[in-house]
Amino acid sequence: MFLTPDEREMLNGAQGRSSQKAMQILVALGEIYGAERMIPVRSVQVAGVSYDNLGEAGLQFLAELADGGGRVRVPTTLNPAGMDIENWRTLGIPEDFAKAQLRVLEAFSRMGVTLTCTCTPYLVGNLPAAGEHLAWSESSAVCYANSVLGAYTNREGGPSALAAALTGRTPEYCLHLVEKRQPGLTVVVEATLAGSSDFGALGKVIGDHIALSKSIPYIRGIPSASLEELKSLCASLATYGGAALFHIEGLSPEAGQLTAPGTELVVTRADLETASHSLSSATSAEVDFVSLGCPHLSLDEIRRISQLLQGKQVKKEFWITTARHTRTLAERLGYTQVIEAAGAKFAADTCCVVAPIQGRFKAMATDSAKACYYASAKNKLKTLILPFDEVVKEALV
Ligand code: F3S
Repeated sequence: MFLTPDEREMLNGAQGRSSQKAMQILVALGEIYGAERMIPVRSVQVAGVSYDNLGEAGLQFLAELADGGGRVRVPTTLNPAGMDIENWRTLGIPEDFAKAQLRVLEAFSRMGVTLTCTCTPYLVGNLPAAGEHLAWSESSAVCYANSVLGAYTNREGGPSALAAALTGRTPEYCLHLVEKRQPGLTVVVEATLAGSSDFGALGKVIGDHIALSKSIPYIRGIPSASLEELKSLCASLATYGGAALFHIEGLSPEAGQLTAPGTELVVTRADLETASHSLSSATSAEVDFVSLGCPHLSLDEIRRISQLLQGKQVKKEFWITTARHTRTLAERLGYTQVIEAAGAKFAADTCCVVAPIQGRFKAMATDSAKACYYASAKNKLKTLILPFDEVVKEALV
């Protein structure tokens, strides 16, 4: 693999222990995937932040990189942590966990990572342009960056994304190459889609279909979609199909230069209903936990929740998960006050999947196909998937 003199210096340790470790990770990856060279990246999104997932070994790895002089060389944002950094007590997070989580964040901070703690970096200032090369982890954000924004990133793991941040480089392979971004399957959507839950169901139908082939979908029949609908589709397709890229005719930046493949998957309203049905294992009566914000909520979604909760009182534990930045804007607009007066709780910086909630609840209502998967697989919860407004109403009964 060709390395520039600067990259060789990093690899031989002349630029410090942490740059060396990071370059070793990237060279190993590049050799496995047959990359011919490194390329510079414009930004990085690092996942693997919750102490619930990292444990003590992960924390040590981060602390050693920070102690070894590791400092990010490009703008670098961070995935959700295991708790709301300011409000963890209200959310019932144990003190020991909180202390460990704060040590994780301190290590990232020493390396110069911006503690955004969100899976929607594109909503809080890390907004790539089409054609830019990135090294992002967080599968839903990777899918959004490639498919909606037209940027180029592989689906990095936490360590390889951090290694890219500490060197400013990533090996050039797979989705950094135009020829690897060609679609392999045409999806014809025959249903009219509305809302995050419909788009999540579509992600599950397509994801299940491509889970083995890993074909890149070229989707027809979606004349328009909101940012919120697209983030839901991205999260679901990444979860169920392992997808890092899709193209929507008329919407995705690259779609106009591509030819729709001959192989087709037709998706009908009945397919979407079957997918939604398969994600619901709980009845309304069993639901004791309600969560919106997977991926993290936009300001407009928080506005909608405040409209629906105005003057009402929730009867179930209701978490609203979003970026701290978005919560601050919601507060300035008065949405936060309405929502908290109704008894719902903001869980900024975190989410219902990465927070340590296993054993606290029996069944969760959500609009997110991705949250259903992890609530069941990681937190052993039953799930009920509903349209966005219906989820809010579920908290009131
Ligand atoms: Fe984000 Fe947590 Fe969902 S990281 S995409 S809210 S599982």
